[in-house]
Amino acid sequence: MSTPRFTAILLAAGSGSRSGAAVPKQYRALAGRSVLARAAQALLDHALVDAVLLMVPLGGEAAARAALGDLAGRLRIAEGGETRRASVRNALEVLAAEAPGYVLVHDSARPGLPAAVIDRLATALADGAVAAIPVLPEVDTLVETSGAVIDRAALRRVQTPQAFAFAPLLAAHGQWTSRDEPTDDAQMVRALGHTVRLVEGDAALEKITLPGDHERMERQFTTHFVGRTGLGFDVHRLEPGGELWLAGVRIPHSHGLSGHSDADVAIHALVDALLGALAEGDIGSHFPPSDPQWRGAPSERFLAFAVERVAARGGVIDHIDVTIICEAPKIGPHRGAMRARLAEIVGLPVTQVSVKATTTERLGLTGRGEGIAAQAVASLRLPLEN
Ligand code: CTP
Ligand code: MG
Repeated sequence: MSTPRFTAILLAAGSGSRSGAAVPKQYRALAGRSVLARAAQALLDHALVDAVLLMVPLGGEAAARAALGDLAGRLRIAEGGETRRASVRNALEVLAAEAPGYVLVHDSARPGLPAAVIDRLATALADGAVAAIPVLPEVDTLVETSGAVIDRAALRRVQTPQAFAFAPLLAAHGQWTSRDEPTDDAQMVRALGHTVRLVEGDAALEKITLPGDHERMERQFTTHFVGRTGLGFDVHRLEPGGELWLAGVRIPHSHGLSGHSDADVAIHALVDALLGALAEGDIGSHFPPSDPQWRGAPSERFLAFAVERVAARGGVIDHIDVTIICEAPKIGPHRGAMRARLAEIVGLPVTQVSVKATTTERLGLTGRGEGIAAQAVASLRLPLEN
């Protein structure tokens, strides 16, 4: 048989009650990118996956879209049910009309999905299996609470994605009568008498379930990160009248800055620092001053763009540090507001955002009050493959 192609069902309709987190575990950021986006990306990137249907909690589409970012447009989204089984059944009903040949059913709470696992599942189906699932051996000694030892040699830990020919999976869901809630789909297909083929799983596929799982997985992801530092510098001319924007805050002053956009020199330096750490050019190459659409534009848009570029590369911003160089206005009284505003735009705790100021002892262009200069350093981490 030729290699099967899949429609993937990505389950994200659970509430993550055992994780102890305030938000559903699939929406939390893991090393700079949501758990859900990571699971979705792995499916979308696989050559054998034709389409992904995402199941979200009732009324939960907006939250899922926010967690997916720019991936949202590449998935279909439908609402799941009360239980994992009900969520899969809803998905199968959505897909019934088009009746795909093969489906993958995957937990979004498993953000690390190596392509090789999907390859192994596909190989098993191509070999004639109706169902195939990834499993790992149990390595710990297993005992009942009474103390009796259980022979682990015959035991396997079951992961997702699980691969099925569509028709038997649909039949299994249609005929499931047991009052027990199944924790996966393979047991339902097996209940119909089908053989479920076992293929090798992967430690990276571990599920986020209990408190601490998220943090542990984040450490695993970030061991493959390398630190990057970017430096930015900018100057704008001071002119009488006009608005003065510095680090996203409007400051009452006799003079305003002129130039590109709202001329927020501190944000411009910061954007260049972030782009520098990514080695993705500078603010002028993305937002040319000659382009009339950026005249008077709020600079926070440029900063939001740079932050999105870091996320798109799978990176995490660790710290930003800005120095504003001028004789006037005094920056001290505005420093708190500036840090808070930058932290909000960049999505960092305020403890990882520094704003400093200095004069140049009345020397040079800033000393003479002709302009304001700013410099910035951004520290971030990028996945090793970048
Ligand atoms: N799931 C789902 N619909 C449900 C319940 C669970 O789509 N009604 C999904 C979850 O979003 C998760 C996967 O099934 O990706 C595995 O379930 P589990 O780890 O149990 O997640 P939750 O049910 O969200 O967590 P908990 O059981 O701790 O509440
Ligand atoms: Mg659950």
